[in-house]
Amino acid sequence: MEYEEVTPKSYPVNLIKKDWTQRKLYYTSPAKSMPNAIYNMEVLDNDIWIVTNPKSGTTWIQELVWLLMNDCNFDTALSKDLELRSPYLEFDFMIHRNVERALKPVQELPSPRIIKSHLSLALLPAQLWEKKPKVIYVFRDPKDAWISNYYHFVNFGFQYGKTLEQYMDELLEKEAPKRDPILHAIEFYQLRNEPWVYYTSYNLMKQDLRKVIENLCKFLNKTVTEQQMERLLKHLSFEEMKNNPTTNHRWEYGQVQHPNRGKEVHNFIRSGKVGGHKEELKAQQIEKADRFIEGRLQANQVTLEQLLLLK
Ligand code: A3P
Repeated sequence: MEYEEVTPKSYPVNLIKKDWTQRKLYYTSPAKSMPNAIYNMEVLDNDIWIVTNPKSGTTWIQELVWLLMNDCNFDTALSKDLELRSPYLEFDFMIHRNVERALKPVQELPSPRIIKSHLSLALLPAQLWEKKPKVIYVFRDPKDAWISNYYHFVNFGFQYGKTLEQYMDELLEKEAPKRDPILHAIEFYQLRNEPWVYYTSYNLMKQDLRKVIENLCKFLNKTVTEQQMERLLKHLSFEEMKNNPTTNHRWEYGQVQHPNRGKEVHNFIRSGKVGGHKEELKAQQIEKADRFIEGRLQANQVTLEQLLLLK
């Protein structure tokens, strides 16, 4: 994918004090007036925004949040694709490049809306920084997320025929500096103690999902019975989600018209591991990826453990 630099009309200076003019921001090209449309978009007080770097466990937490907000309605969760219950803000534009229709899936959603986005804080609607609706952020080790993204894009057809090694080389050279996962996370990490922000990590969800559910219940002012908790834990387990058609993005895959789509197929809920990259990447490639990540961490005076909430 190609990215172009975009400059928002203003920055979230009320949330984070820094020299925002130095913050380079990118949108997939051609961006047209989409970043502007998002900047101007109406945010509702009772919205719930789920923001992540791609492939960081978004679907996992989305399914959980949707269930908590919908009285644990498992029947609907099992019969309606998650992307239709909780749309991905940038998706329609990614497929049709038509600003007129791009925000409709979100605008037409009954409230409280549960909205997914991979945009950086400064590219989210300006009203979000002022109205401060509930925002949920999940961070995952970028190495695991990048590998997950490779398989996802092989499915779509975009990366079909490319090896994981080729993909990683290109990514580290071209894409990662523009879609910097560390900077993306830091801006939400800095807000983690705000009452309207719930920041967690893929690692914490793997370690103790019950605790994440309990914390999210507090954050969303919801309660679940022990029976519902047991069912949630089962429904959200890797095995159940892997075998659940509504959480495997079948609707989304159906929207992509790439000649190589479906030539090689990997389950969306694929391997679900912390540190899975160690099984897939050669030592040299891990080092290269680590060098990029370390550089970004050092420049921002934070550690990976901190961003993963392991320290
Ligand atoms: P892998 O490809 O490494 O398996 P996103 O929803 O942000 O696109 O993230 C997708 C990643 O989250 C995939 O990672 C997927 O397997 C993982 N995931 C989704 N549901 C999960 C679950 N219940 N348990 C563990 N991992 C899960």
